[in-house]
Amino acid sequence: MTDTILELSQNPLARSLISKAKLPIPMPEKLERPKGAAVERYLDDKRVLYAGSGTSKLTSIIARSLTKAGSMPLLTSEALRDAFAGPSEAYGRHSRVVALDEAESMEHVHAIVLDASTLNHSSELKVLYDVFHGYMRALDHNGRCVVIGRSPESARTLGQASARAALEGFTRSLAKEIGGKAVTANLLYVDDGAEDRVNAPLRFLLSAASAFVTAQPLRVTAKAVWEGEDPFPQPLAGKVALVTGAARGIGEATARALAAEGAHVVCLDRPEDDGPLSEVATAIGGSTLLCNVLDEDAPRRISQYLIETHGGVDIVVHNAGITRDRTLARMDEGRWNMVLGINLDAILKITETLLDGALHDGGRIISLSSIGGIAGNMGQTNYGASKAGVIGFTRFLASQLASRGITVNAVAPGFIETRMTAEMPVVVREVGRRLAALGQGGQPEDVAQAITFFAAPGAAGLTGNVLRVCGGALIGA
Ligand code: NAI
Repeated sequence: MTDTILELSQNPLARSLISKAKLPIPMPEKLERPKGAAVERYLDDKRVLYAGSGTSKLTSIIARSLTKAGSMPLLTSEALRDAFAGPSEAYGRHSRVVALDEAESMEHVHAIVLDASTLNHSSELKVLYDVFHGYMRALDHNGRCVVIGRSPESARTLGQASARAALEGFTRSLAKEIGGKAVTANLLYVDDGAEDRVNAPLRFLLSAASAFVTAQPLRVTAKAVWEGEDPFPQPLAGKVALVTGAARGIGEATARALAAEGAHVVCLDRPEDDGPLSEVATAIGGSTLLCNVLDEDAPRRISQYLIETHGGVDIVVHNAGITRDRTLARMDEGRWNMVLGINLDAILKITETLLDGALHDGGRIISLSSIGGIAGNMGQTNYGASKAGVIGFTRFLASQLASRGITVNAVAPGFIETRMTAEMPVVVREVGRRLAALGQGGQPEDVAQAITFFAAPGAAGLTGNVLRVCGGALIGA
């Protein structure tokens, strides 16, 4: 479905006329999305400004990550030079210090990364102001801001707890101020002992893969057992993935994205969707599995097929989902049962069966929740319950499966341009698109990229997370 306002905003003449006439028409910036599979030097020659204290355990890990990706690091202080010296030399990316008083005249940067992991007290929060107020003007369109901190839950003092929690309010607010330039701002809470797991999430947040993810916190922990593997590029080479509801929309985009990163994808959808499902599977060299997830024997059939045909499965994406909207007073029992059955019960039953032999240790389970499951929605008591249930499922299972190295995460899309949202009344659709920091709807591919990120071996630090892919939607924030 075409977004006329987004298209209009791409026309420089129209943009300038609307701005001069001060017309109250939003002018969202077009998002830069990935062009094919991820590449190792995804930051090729892009400048990234790194700010930190010099005593952080993360500095040398981030220095390696940024230089290996091909970026040109700019540092905010001399104290950071030592940590960058080795990696800069190894990858031929020479770092340079740009002091705050030189910020006015500095070149454009793709990203600002602030490592605030050493903050111990709320009185030290001024660093947020200094860094972002000072350097933000240099950010390119489609740029990235990433704040890194320790989680408030692991704080040992009142000062730490307040300072750490403050990072979230700051990042969410910043995202809302800079979204008009298609710049995102996100937060990584990294647990003590999980520093070596920061590479994959940092890569996701700094790359085009996270174009529609903004104002979100992610928690990196050492909970799930991990062999230390972070193959990249082609992180999913040799992996088998199951995607339910893969015939169209987000499921189709996910199947394509997982295959592009090397996975063999088993595309599942209802028998009546044989045609479109086969097209997707053929295009990506995957397989098809025709099955209605509501069928009583679906869990057994799926598990048996995966074991017999592929020797098991590494990545499970629970994407099949439906809406049957009505206010509760007008909702018949059938609508309630159908939505809860497909969106939640089937996920539980299939997962329980797959855990009994088909899903390998070190596996990945990613389920589709929704902003509707976080904020609730008029006419969606059934859908809201099912999608909130998915969050409960994700958090509970994440701790249960950590010892097997299996991570469990959920993605909660906001307004995504699919047939589901194309059916909305025009005013609701327009409000859904614009009431977000990035001022536009997302594409199925945006959700697919987030799922693909969680699916990678290097994403072992992420478990029990619910990541909103919503463009910084103001609803349910
Ligand atoms: P869609 O309607 O385009 O695709 C859903 C797919 O699931 C279809 O191919 C359908 O045949 C399949 N499916 C439905 N019932 C099934 C069953 N019983 N057995 C097997 N397959 C079945 O939907 P879309 O928009 O791609 O959504 C995908 C997921 O993302 C859903 O779980 C949805 O709730 C969630 N979501 C979508 C949002 C959006 O804006 N499009 C927003 C938030 C969440």
